[in-house]
Amino acid sequence: EKPKKLLPRPPIVTVMGHVDHGKTTLLDYIRKTNVTAREFGGITQHIGASVVEHNGKKIVFLDTPGHEAFTSMRARGAQVTDIVVLIVAADDGVMPQTIEALNHAKAANTPIIVAINKIDKPSAKPDRVKQQLADLGLIPEEWGGDTIMVEISAKTGLNVDQLLEMILLVAEMNELVADYEATPQGVVIEAELDKGKGPVANVIVQQGTLRRGDILLFETTWGRVRAMMDHLGRNVDEVTPSLPAKILGLEDVPQAGERFIKVDDERAAREAVEQYMEKKRQQEMQAVKRTSLEELFEQMEKGEKPVVRMILKSDVQGTLEAIKSSLMRLAVEEVGIEVVHEGVGRITESDVMLADASNAIIIGFNVRPDGNAKKLAEQKGIQIRLYRTIYDVIDDVKAAVEGMLA
Ligand code: GTP
Ligand code: NA
Ligand code: MG
Repeated sequence: EKPKKLLPRPPIVTVMGHVDHGKTTLLDYIRKTNVTAREFGGITQHIGASVVEHNGKKIVFLDTPGHEAFTSMRARGAQVTDIVVLIVAADDGVMPQTIEALNHAKAANTPIIVAINKIDKPSAKPDRVKQQLADLGLIPEEWGGDTIMVEISAKTGLNVDQLLEMILLVAEMNELVADYEATPQGVVIEAELDKGKGPVANVIVQQGTLRRGDILLFETTWGRVRAMMDHLGRNVDEVTPSLPAKILGLEDVPQAGERFIKVDDERAAREAVEQYMEKKRQQEMQAVKRTSLEELFEQMEKGEKPVVRMILKSDVQGTLEAIKSSLMRLAVEEVGIEVVHEGVGRITESDVMLADASNAIIIGFNVRPDGNAKKLAEQKGIQIRLYRTIYDVIDDVKAAVEGMLA
């Protein structure tokens, strides 16, 4: 085995805090761009990563929509964030989502720096914020504690330099390093299907140096890196640890939080993905069989014909119709299929509630659940199955129906 060559790597920072406390404005100021104005309704809708330089040192920022993304990544075992900047508006003070964010950061054992924002406002009460935070166990350094707190204005830029210095200081204290020559690996922060480019994944490299042409194994997909872009959209040939990259060339769209590693050959990658997907499918099938069987017995007792219920969501009306008519053809004498609801668009909380109430599974074709829907489905144990080909939907439902008859 090669000896490890550990070198410093840039810190990866997540800014968290209550709605409208200034996360995006802070990142805008730091990046000297203007993302807030471009965002629909001023609400952050995606996870973006950006890289800024301060005193010649890089800092990577993840602009998360609240702490949900942070936690869903952690739930998948991907610990991406090195430092949390907890932003609290000095006029508003500690709010419910401030506490939630704090708890998430604590649970992840991530160092926290507090940015007390909107200090330019006449109504700002920074000492009140410090007291509120102290009550939650974050004691400011100036009061003898060990939490770094910086009073800033994301709007005017006051003390933002100082905040960046503190980030670099904490990074140094935590000795963030990586092996630049290790087998490249990292994590997906967001991914999408681009009409022209195909699957596009925004990733962060955690170890090694990712190069164009590398064969990468994700959990649900794989691919050979056809092209890579850095955070400014420039084509690059390699990406070093902590840095984000947009990568093209994957077979399918991976989920946020999926990890990847470079492998030597395509066949091994394809087989590993097939095995993973097969295992997942088996688990899902078992779950369907279980809940459906219970229901089946109930229905038989009542002298009813058992029915597999489903909610169908798709990106376009046309495929919805096609899936529905193919599914109906699968209904057999012994087992019926009932579509309790169908619609175009993302899977929402209301779909999950309906599925819960009607004991249905949710089938998404080229659509995904939104954050709330996903959370609720997990809580309620509602199955959401996502597909990209009609063939797979039909195949899966057919197998489930056959499973019920077996
Ligand atoms: P979400 O993404 O919706 O959770 O909000 P956010 O935390 O990203 O807040 P955002 O940056 O969108 O700021 C909310 C509002 O506060 C905007 O109108 C900003 O202009 C304003 N704001 C942010 N920072 C400051 C500041 O330092 N001073 C003042 N006066 N206003 C600020
Ligand atoms: Na906002
Ligand atoms: Mg925002």
